[in-house]
Amino acid sequence: MASKNTKTGLIPVGKLTPEEAMLELARLAAVIVQADEAYYARDKPEITDAAYDALRRRNLLIEKRFAKLKRADSPSDKVGAAPSAKFEKAKHAAAMLSLDNAFNDDDVVDFGQRVRRFLGLPDEEALAFTAEPKIDGLSLNLRYEGGILKSAATRGDGEVGENVTSNVLTISDIPQRLKKAPEILEVRGEVYMSHADFDALNQGLKEEGEDVFANPRNAAAGSLRQLDAAITASRPLRFFAYAWGEISEEIAETQWDAISCFKKLGFQINPLTKRCDSVSDMIAHYRKIEEQRALLGYDIDGVVYKVDRLDYQTRLGFVSRHPRWAIAHKFLAEKATTVLEDIEIQVGRTGKLTPVARLKPVTVGGVVVSNATLHNEDEIKRKDVRIGDTVVVQRAGDVIPQIVEVVVGKRKKGAKAFVFPSQCPICGSHAINEANPQTGKTDVDKRCTGGLICSAQAVERLKHFVARNAFDIEGLGEKQVATFFEQGIIKEPADIFTLRHRQEQGRIDLYSYKLKPDGSLHLDKEGAKQPTNAKSIENLFAGIDARREISSARFINALGIRHIGETNARLFASHYGDFAGFYDAAVKARDKNSDTYEGLLSIDGVGALVAQGAIDFFEEDHNRDAVDRLLKEVKPQKAETVAATSAVAGKIVVFTGKLELFTRDEAKARAQTLGAKVAGSVSAKTDYLVAGPGAGSKLKKAEALGVEVLTETAWLALIDT
Ligand code: IVH
Repeated sequence: MASKNTKTGLIPVGKLTPEEAMLELARLAAVIVQADEAYYARDKPEITDAAYDALRRRNLLIEKRFAKLKRADSPSDKVGAAPSAKFEKAKHAAAMLSLDNAFNDDDVVDFGQRVRRFLGLPDEEALAFTAEPKIDGLSLNLRYEGGILKSAATRGDGEVGENVTSNVLTISDIPQRLKKAPEILEVRGEVYMSHADFDALNQGLKEEGEDVFANPRNAAAGSLRQLDAAITASRPLRFFAYAWGEISEEIAETQWDAISCFKKLGFQINPLTKRCDSVSDMIAHYRKIEEQRALLGYDIDGVVYKVDRLDYQTRLGFVSRHPRWAIAHKFLAEKATTVLEDIEIQVGRTGKLTPVARLKPVTVGGVVVSNATLHNEDEIKRKDVRIGDTVVVQRAGDVIPQIVEVVVGKRKKGAKAFVFPSQCPICGSHAINEANPQTGKTDVDKRCTGGLICSAQAVERLKHFVARNAFDIEGLGEKQVATFFEQGIIKEPADIFTLRHRQEQGRIDLYSYKLKPDGSLHLDKEGAKQPTNAKSIENLFAGIDARREISSARFINALGIRHIGETNARLFASHYGDFAGFYDAAVKARDKNSDTYEGLLSIDGVGALVAQGAIDFFEEDHNRDAVDRLLKEVKPQKAETVAATSAVAGKIVVFTGKLELFTRDEAKARAQTLGAKVAGSVSAKTDYLVAGPGAGSKLKKAEALGVEVLTETAWLALIDT
């Protein structure tokens, strides 16, 4: 028999024999049932929460090691999901958003003023915020039902994450049962690894000859996303709670009280969280946290401010992917000095030529940097950056590293100023600085005029098409699509969806490629028809088929139309109902005197530049043809109406005059939340004009067109019913 741990009197899981394991699983099942019964039925816990969690963890670890011995009445099945070969997708009940950034004190002052303006709060009225460290880890949603941890999911794209429940069960900072919690409670926070644990982990990996992690954040992510929960269990992950998702009843009236409630429920909350009464208090707390940063023992990359009153948070709502009620004040970037070895020109999806600095690798804030962006020709001239120069690079969070300045004193004799090419380095077409049609100003960026013949643009368009916020095809990322493009197998989006058919007809031979687990794809004549390869090709087809139905917003974004990114794509999908509606409108809007053009411009948030982007794209025969070929393979879905039940869902509303009950921004945001479309100008299609005192030309136009005119009070009555 293996020796027992002297403290716990238990044999370590790694040392159990199968017989011992079977007995131990039986014992654990009985003890856990007994503990559950004491806790729930008799309300008299017999063991501490920590001891209970330890029992469950031990049970899980043994089951991992001896999968065959898992009992039919295993306690693990009563909480969360069994681990699967791959992580299952988990749709979030409430989207997990990201934060807008502030880079200096002025940005924070602006944030405070924006909040006041939106809420219509005068300066003398109190407005409190919370300020807390921004943890540099990865966010997690923990769903408790009836006080029991039911599932845990990573953020993913904000809408859909990965189900990592069995791994999360091994994290000791995360309680598996909550007492006196609402029936449904989703707690959100950050999983991270301390510096000490990170160093020890890397030391261990090094000794075993394994790759080490670049920083604690990567180590935390890598450890949480292990398919084997036993590995996660051996990695010391921690968790701070700071937010929530779906919740069946209110837990507090302020952010501060909500966080205190989490603490009472057994979560770790960050001890540097503070309630601040003013913007200057917030900035003072930021300085204090910044001073302690190096001593905390874990990575933080800024301070997050949140409006304290939750009723204000609700009123403020969201803009695009960010809450209006919070902001992340980032710490200044970390810097290092290195040598600029070369300047390469990359050609983007829209033909833009971007100079990229190739650097002698240098560690900046724990991450090895070997590339930095130089933005454009002007930037190189302004900073007078020359190949061979010693340069200062900086890196802030996830942003691409930048070159801050040249150390001129170290310049070698004879270093020549960089000459920006006037031809595309890929296809040789002229590269020009276009003029903005609206302002007539010359663009700072040079663009390749090669359009369709430029393979760099084509491949970048394909990469954009499969990106995470576009088609997001499992098994077909940037790298694979680029290889297929080079091989002439995928030339345009529709080709992705005909892969299976062409393979079956023998027109292409995908088996001569090797799809590696790291996502790369290789030509592999020798390995052809290996069973593992056949399986990965089948998986690829399945990933592609899963995307034959797709949201219209993703579809529009995927097309990579100039000036139409994620936000505008969503706007168009919801305004026109689906892709077909948008397509039709963009084609008709070519006639600038048409109602359709006016309608396009009237969408709140769409200006002439965006409208022109749409028109130009669909004006090109080759674009329409490519879209039509794609539509034979893929069905964009009807856009979800936000609140189909509200009286104003789908209606077009225009606000004018001075509003007295709401600020203009709040009125608009509220209408949009209820599914109405807010337009900036009145047309025959307008359903309601909400007019406050002093309304002028819009009111006249509405009356002339017979559009229903409402006072602010009448509007409120309408949306309240
Ligand atoms: S609040 C609706 N608080 O930052 C926003 N986020 O860019 C809810 N993060 O994805 C987030 N520390 O991973 C919040 N104290 C903190 C945070 C924090 C780190 C991360 C989180 C989020 C990202 C936002």
